[in-house]
Amino acid sequence: MGKVSKRTASILYMKKHETLFSCPLCKESMHVTDDGHVLCGNHHSFDIAKQGYVNFMVKPANSMYSKSLFESRQEVINSGLYTPLQQTIAKHIGEDTQIILDTGCGEGSHLERISSLLKQEVVAVGIDISKEGIQSAAKFYEQKIWCVGDLSNSPYQGQAFDCILNILSPANYDEFSRLLKANGKVIKVVPQSDYLKEIRKQAFANSEKENYTNDQTVQRFKEHFANVVQERITYTMPLSEELVPKLLEMTPLGWHLKEGISLTEITIDLDILIGEIAS
Ligand SMILES: C[S@@+](CC[C@H](N)C(=O)[O-])C[C@H]1O[C@@H](n2cnc3c(N)ncnc32)[C@H](O)[C@@H]1O
Ligand SMILES: [Zn+2]
Repeated sequence: MGKVSKRTASILYMKKHETLFSCPLCKESMHVTDDGHVLCGNHHSFDIAKQGYVNFMVKPANSMYSKSLFESRQEVINSGLYTPLQQTIAKHIGEDTQIILDTGCGEGSHLERISSLLKQEVVAVGIDISKEGIQSAAKFYEQKIWCVGDLSNSPYQGQAFDCILNILSPANYDEFSRLLKANGKVIKVVPQSDYLKEIRKQAFANSEKENYTNDQTVQRFKEHFANVVQERITYTMPLSEELVPKLLEMTPLGWHLKEGISLTEITIDLDILIGEIAS
């Protein structure tokens, strides 16, 4: 028997987990049909694409992120630059988690790698507003549920997730609280002052933007969630020459720079915020 197509494999996987879905238009529960539609009781229907993802957008969205940006992001992430971050997140997720949602997952490499670092098998769901990001995720990473959608109006049932990841992406804390199980946790990653400082210095020399603080973001997180733990992770890694243009393309910071920039190492400096639903 031949290998099943990517779409067929995704239909089967999504069908197995169809109780997760909630219609982004009317909030009804949904089911996955054998021919690859995610359908609610009010006949709102979203197709599973041939690449194996579903587009749940109910209105068009403009994204500043292009296909080539996501390709660069994927190369940089898969070079190992973020491995210590992924290991720390996996440690905080722990062994009891069965179902994870990555909000603003981009091209999916963090979710793929973090899932593979866990001891247990998990159901991993990624949502991003950018179709290019999700297409890339679905192309490379199988046995996951990849959705184009708005994290503020997500196509999932309430109290469906043990853990919500939110890595360097916008957030909607009311929606996260709706989606989390009672004992679930949110893990948010925000830049700290030295994040990509080698690029920041050259892009914003002598301007105010050279200095960055995440105080307000951290404060807002603490106002919304209980028992917050904050862990800072800082390291500098050498950079290969081939990776430099990828690194410059993957972040809007790098777009300010013309050729001729010299980068031999790069600093990762991030805060990991872990919180629970306040009771
Ligand atoms: C800086 S990227 C981070 C991507 C990924 N988490 C990573 O670290 O590689 C921010 C991501 O948030 C996504 N995003 C922005 N607004 C969103 C929204 N309302 N709903 C879902 N995703 C959104 C963007 O499309 C983009 O992929
Ligand atoms: Zn509906």
